[in-house]
Amino acid sequence: MKINDFKLERYFAKHEFTAKYLFSSSDCDGYELKYLLENASKDEMDLWEGIKLGYTESEGNPLLREAILQYYKIKTIENVVVASPGELNFISLNLLLNSEDHVITISPSYQSLSEVVKSINCELSYWKPNPENWKFNIADLEKLIRKNTKLIILNFPHNPTGSYLTRGELDEIVSIAKKHDLYLFSDEMYHKLIIDDLAELPPISDIYEKGISLWGTSKTFGLAGLRIGWLVAQDTNFLRKVVAFKDYLSICNSAPSEILSIIALNNIDKFLPQNLIKIRKNVKLFSEFVGKHPIISSFIPPQTGSTSFVKLNIENSVLEFSNQLVEKTGIMTIPSEMYEYPGKYIRVGFGRNNFPEVLEILDNYLKTIKPAHSNT
Ligand SMILES: Cc1ncc(COP(=O)(O)O)c(C=O)c1O
Repeated sequence: MKINDFKLERYFAKHEFTAKYLFSSSDCDGYELKYLLENASKDEMDLWEGIKLGYTESEGNPLLREAILQYYKIKTIENVVVASPGELNFISLNLLLNSEDHVITISPSYQSLSEVVKSINCELSYWKPNPENWKFNIADLEKLIRKNTKLIILNFPHNPTGSYLTRGELDEIVSIAKKHDLYLFSDEMYHKLIIDDLAELPPISDIYEKGISLWGTSKTFGLAGLRIGWLVAQDTNFLRKVVAFKDYLSICNSAPSEILSIIALNNIDKFLPQNLIKIRKNVKLFSEFVGKHPIISSFIPPQTGSTSFVKLNIENSVLEFSNQLVEKTGIMTIPSEMYEYPGKYIRVGFGRNNFPEVLEILDNYLKTIKPAHSNT
């Protein structure tokens, strides 16, 4: 198997730990271990203090799988497998697909949602939103279906645009999938990060027998360092194969991360509301900022998630823009080249406390740059 570099992760690897300011992160600030433990119950603290640092169960700790189930209608732990999110994505697509299959994936997207499919040599079509409002149109999706289509890959809340679906639209997708007997792999990593006053979508695994839901602690909880994600599906046969594949990768999860994830899942109110307050505040600040800078040609505020895809009106490529920005100001941004998406966009992440400080520095920097179509 040959797989291309994960451009976005390589770009992060280059700058994330040297740049002074991160302006494009999709995760919220990571919570401290101390804070997490302060919120643990007596029983949870007993679990934490009694951890044995040996191998763990490859499906994931049964107590963690129970804790996960409180967020799903499915009620047996056989329907849950725990591993790192990227690993679960990689395994699922490799198990579901063969080279003769056709896949439809959302675009722009987190690169693994297309790159793993490409590495299996499948035919791939992209379901793209309207760039005027980032709305995804269901009729467009249906037009992409072919005789050999096997899978549709979804990601709502959507990284990078913050777009969302209505419940009616999700139900329409499920009907289409049923009609054509397709799998739905739904990357729900930003589940519950709902910025606008919108109804929360159910996990796909609750409403479709061939639906596979992916979620984890990284984004919703601000606990990316735990490296814990999970798949939930009605198809336990598929999940057993995921566990067997995992033997060639991580084999099992880190015991401390599993216990810390139990504490987080049982205490979501100590994590999610704070993240949403921060994201909403930063989106508002950025909305005011945009009007002052003709170089920002379009900002469609995200409805969900923690990021938006912001259009720039610049002469240079966005990669050049981002490289210069990090070099001159220490602010790291992700250019749209990392998303293989045409047009000049940067991803903006709203989940960081120092966002107002970064905006001040960006304000001064952008004043020094002339927009592409400017008479001045
Ligand atoms: C849509 C999406 N899926 C999966 C992941 C992977 O999550 P993690 O970084 O926790 O492995 C990310 C991370 O940015 C993401 O944005």
